[in-house]
Amino acid sequence: MIYKELDKFKDDFLWGSASAAYQVEGAWNQDGKGESIWDIYTKKPGTTFKNTNGDIAVDHYNRYKEDVALMAEMGLKAYRFSIAWTRIYPNGKGEVNEEGLKFYENLIDELIKHDIKPIITLYHWDLPQHLQDLYGGWESREIINDFNEYCITLFKRFGDKVKYWVTLNEQNVFLTLGYLTALHPPGVKDQKRMLQANHIANLANAKVIESFREYVPNGMIGPSFAFGPTYSYSCNPEDVLSAENAEDLNCNWWLDVYCKGTYPSFALKYYERLGIAPVIEDGDLELLEKGKPDFIGINYYQTATVKMNPLDGVGIAEGMNNTGKKGTSKESGIPGVYKNTKNPHLETTNWDWAIDPTGLRIGLRRLTSRYGLPILITENGLGEFDKLEENDIVNDEYRIKYLSSHVKACKEAITDGVDLLGYCTWSFTDLLSWLNGYQKRYGFVYIDRDENDEKDLRRIKKKSFYWYKDVISSNGELLEEQVIQYSI
Ligand code: BG6
Repeated sequence: MIYKELDKFKDDFLWGSASAAYQVEGAWNQDGKGESIWDIYTKKPGTTFKNTNGDIAVDHYNRYKEDVALMAEMGLKAYRFSIAWTRIYPNGKGEVNEEGLKFYENLIDELIKHDIKPIITLYHWDLPQHLQDLYGGWESREIINDFNEYCITLFKRFGDKVKYWVTLNEQNVFLTLGYLTALHPPGVKDQKRMLQANHIANLANAKVIESFREYVPNGMIGPSFAFGPTYSYSCNPEDVLSAENAEDLNCNWWLDVYCKGTYPSFALKYYERLGIAPVIEDGDLELLEKGKPDFIGINYYQTATVKMNPLDGVGIAEGMNNTGKKGTSKESGIPGVYKNTKNPHLETTNWDWAIDPTGLRIGLRRLTSRYGLPILITENGLGEFDKLEENDIVNDEYRIKYLSSHVKACKEAITDGVDLLGYCTWSFTDLLSWLNGYQKRYGFVYIDRDENDEKDLRRIKKKSFYWYKDVISSNGELLEEQVIQYSI
């Protein structure tokens, strides 16, 4: 639909921004924190860009007050951050570390003091190494109970102060990269193991939602899914069928389980024929049924465009563009299912991610039609090289252009009838990208450091900082004007 006028954002719309513990906190062994799989993995040479790690990151652990003051200056309504499991339980289970709880309590209080609503992510990839060593982490059903106990500790402590909670961040990404492409820890390439670990993660997600109902009855909880809606490259029915395949395997495989408690039938049959479908035990489906969320969290960066891929066609590509050299990502696909291809209608970032605000609107519409749940955009943003100019100026007009077009797409989706709770940009400050180091920047606030040198970790407001401040204070109304003003 093309409208003459768009609906307004609701008054309590959550204008937010997001981060994750490992990517911002640093202080990797401070105050009793245990080791996570990322603390260990990043120290293995060649696993990350220029061997970067989060030992110091942007030192948010020690500078959180300064960061929250900047959020307050911007007028931010919500801040999504993750809790490091290893700060609460250094070994993943056993004795609780009060100092870890205290850090997050201070952060939450500081946010609330400035009228910023905390949105807590319970798991953003930093699994306790001890649980990985003890029973193989997500591959063992033992994790369901340990994750539940850790979450209950947080529900009890923060449930009366925090309304919005996110369970697992991008289960589709951390398990695919961890167990299929071996780019994340534990660095495995085995799809059967991946699908089994994924089933266990589904159960853990459901279990924690079940507990949440008991401990935080007035709160809202949901997973954050890395959502890349699929397009068919052409109207050739073979391409259209490939797009159906990809949407089923890459999106519905997770979202149907979260929202309907069942696996999509075509995808399940496909994995059964390959002999790699997850083992579903008695009681599993009942638990999944109890784990339906209050909202769907989506991390949206790009759409995927696919075409037919013959049985002897291209398979999963080795490596990704982790350098920012445009055009270096490789063709990838599943023989006989689909292959990814470049969308000729879309520009890409330097990391070859398609820029597609309309794809966000399309995705929001698809989710609403299929599941009918409210949606929280838990991440959206542009990772780019930024340049610190003289007098501490960072002119990131390309980011303003990217974000305004996506916020406009949200407004259009709301006008279409999507129930959107809020919009969190990725990210508030610059931070460590898991595989791309510090040069791929996302923040409104520049952090003066790079891969080779921590420098002074100074915080510097970028041009986009002032832009988002205006968007928030006008509740999204200044947007249209600014899209034009900032167009480049
Ligand atoms: C999401 C993650 O996948 O995308 C974030 O939840 C991540 O943790 C973000 O940083 C951007 O990805 P990248 O690879 O550009 O850092």
